[in-house]
Amino acid sequence: MNQEENNFCPVNKIALICTCIVGFQLSRMLFRFLYDSFLAPAFKINAVNIKETGTWAVVTGATDGIGKAYAEVLAQKGLNVVLISRTKLKLDDVAKELGEKYKVEFRTLVADFTDTEHIYHEIDKQLNGMDIGVLINNVGMSYTHPEFFLDVKDKDTFFPNLINCNIYSVTNMCKIVMPGMVERRKGVVINISSSAAQIPNPLLTVYAASKAYVVKFSEDLAAEYSKFGITVQCLLPGYVATNMSKIRSSTWMAPSPLTYVKEAIKTVGIKERTTGYYPHTLLITVVKGLDYISPKLSRWLIFRTMSNIRKRALKRATQ
Ligand SMILES: NC(=O)c1ccc[n+]([C@@H]2O[C@H](COP(=O)([O-])OP(=O)(O)OC[C@H]3O[C@@H](n4cnc5c(N)ncnc54)[C@H](OP(=O)(O)O)[C@@H]3O)[C@@H](O)[C@H]2O)c1
Repeated sequence: MNQEENNFCPVNKIALICTCIVGFQLSRMLFRFLYDSFLAPAFKINAVNIKETGTWAVVTGATDGIGKAYAEVLAQKGLNVVLISRTKLKLDDVAKELGEKYKVEFRTLVADFTDTEHIYHEIDKQLNGMDIGVLINNVGMSYTHPEFFLDVKDKDTFFPNLINCNIYSVTNMCKIVMPGMVERRKGVVINISSSAAQIPNPLLTVYAASKAYVVKFSEDLAAEYSKFGITVQCLLPGYVATNMSKIRSSTWMAPSPLTYVKEAIKTVGIKERTTGYYPHTLLITVVKGLDYISPKLSRWLIFRTMSNIRKRALKRATQ
């Protein structure tokens, strides 16, 4: 076979076509990542003007971490904020702290979202008639440390509490707040899930599964209500330095709640489902890529990492 014939043999042609397809797909993924993470937020392409959605925002789990950061960023944008959490003292402190910084109104509401029987009637009553433009379904609880499903402490009460707090709260808060948004034909609902919902997460099984509910619920709700002018976004953060993650000092990969929320809020209207923070997107892409190539290897790696965290936590507990 001479050189010319060799160039056009079927095997070479197939190799060339495959290279082009893979190259095209990789470039498309890279462009999508750059567009969603930098270009669209920088030029506010399709971004929602949060301030124009209404006069009030409601944030659940608003006294610490990501919830408190949302309350601050929304107040900075000029919205009045209803803060909802369990602890009256913490609520008053946050309302005072942010009230001194931003010239907007704060209202506080004490509610424990593990309780499904009593709180929603009161929340509904308190929020009735308010012009709510933004709902942040942030409240959530997780395990104290990674653990085998059957070995979780007090699982008979812990699992229902977790499900009520992570799933029931999101569903019910939407049920209470969204009718007003539908009436006014505008609004933003941000549901906080977790990247645990989209990658293997052994030893946090019930938490990860509860967050998967939030993803599916948000996706279908977004499809149902976009024609009513309502933007439903689902956020799937990686690690953020908060009480829940037990990460004390922020890093590039585990940012402070405020850094995280300032980035995430730029994606409202641009991405329906996102980590909200590009280093988390990079990490998840790598884990998903590994899971695609070898599911066994990725599961083994994550299981080993979670087992090590579990062992360290159990050791600390017995010291
Ligand atoms: N931090 C992360 O790395 C990370 C990663 C992925 C997803 N997330 C998700 O992000 C959300 C916020 O997490 P975070 O890390 O910011 O948590 P956090 O720092 O522990 O703050 C939790 C907030 O929720 C309130 N809260 C807790 N349990 C409650 C209950 N039963 N009823 C009412 N309020 C309650 C707490 O205040 P009180 O104690 O006063 O009630 C506090 O204001 C959660 O949904 C979590 O799953 C976090």
